[in-house]
Amino acid sequence: MPTEPLVLGIETSCDETGVGIVRGRTLLANEIASSASEHERFGGVVPEIAARAHLEAFEPTIKRALKVAGVGLEDIDAIAVTAGPGLAGALMVGVGAAKALAASIGKPIYGVNHLVGHVSAGLLNVEGEAPATFEYPAIALLVSGGHTELLLVRNLVNDTELLGQTLDDAAGEAFDKVARLLDLPYPGGPHIDKAAASGRPDAFSFPRALTLPKDQAEHRFDFSFSGLKTAVWRTVQQLKERGQEVPVADIAASFRKAVIDVLLAKAIDACKHYQVPRLMLGGGVVANAQLRAEAARICAENGVELLIPSLNLATDNGAMIAALGAELIVAGLTASPLTFAVDPIMPVSSPLSNDGAVIS
Ligand code: KG4
Ligand code: ZN
Repeated sequence: MPTEPLVLGIETSCDETGVGIVRGRTLLANEIASSASEHERFGGVVPEIAARAHLEAFEPTIKRALKVAGVGLEDIDAIAVTAGPGLAGALMVGVGAAKALAASIGKPIYGVNHLVGHVSAGLLNVEGEAPATFEYPAIALLVSGGHTELLLVRNLVNDTELLGQTLDDAAGEAFDKVARLLDLPYPGGPHIDKAAASGRPDAFSFPRALTLPKDQAEHRFDFSFSGLKTAVWRTVQQLKERGQEVPVADIAASFRKAVIDVLLAKAIDACKHYQVPRLMLGGGVVANAQLRAEAARICAENGVELLIPSLNLATDNGAMIAALGAELIVAGLTASPLTFAVDPIMPVSSPLSNDGAVIS
């Protein structure tokens, strides 16, 4: 395998069919077909609709990515595909198609972890942006629609330790649920972000859960967002009962600030506690404008190096899967057997399906 392998990454864990191509840590293509608009009227992703949409989008998205990268299928060194976690039916479409593709071109396939992929996206060098310089260990904050986790990453490919996670709702889920309370469309994150831009973050005082001294012993690195969601619901109810207009921008800005304050305070606390002056961010919520700005500010203030995916690599995409595939290959891990299964609840501690062994 070359030192900078050409990897084609395929992502179908939810409603985005993503195909990315990387050479080592250099991004060559990132093509996405989304079925989000087909789910909008249901207020959430419908698994069967997502699976069928992946089937239809698979071939054209692969073709577009190859064209953008200026390479042919015969040039690809390996295929990486999301094995989990995610929606079983959606994962099965991607994994089945990826296996067929790998077999037809006679190249190895790596069934990789979507969550670790999110964090890997920050490692990619993107044209026009400063190259990512990086060393382990690092603290990783993973904030997606289904997960909120703090990790101590000694090495992304085989040594991550879960420090804490949400006890109830994930950060992205909280954005989606609060958007619904404010009559904003699904997925809520980008709409709350937009509404919050013209709002006052200090207009409402919403709770910051698990941040009190009494929480330090048991839940120092854990999160909880369901109380915050309830506080927003109660505020909206009271305003409506009094016949007052709901100030959507102010509520969105105050809610967004409450989430970001907790996420970053805990991430920086973990950096200090483990004496690791490096923070990796990953997951759809990293597309949040305020989170990106605040993370840069707080990390600079605390002497912490920040590794953050470029904006279009924050939400689900195939490039992050290709990026993780390349990391695994360069680290010398063996490919997954063609028989590997999808794992809808794949834990963040296993980056590769069927625990590829290191070739010594
Ligand atoms: O990582 P992701 O694309 O999919 C999952 O693996 O879950 O994350 C999707 C989540 C959704 O909850 C969405 O509302 C949230 O990321 N999100 C955002 C923003 N863009 C997407 N949350 C806050 N601000 C955003 N700009
Ligand atoms: Zn994701």
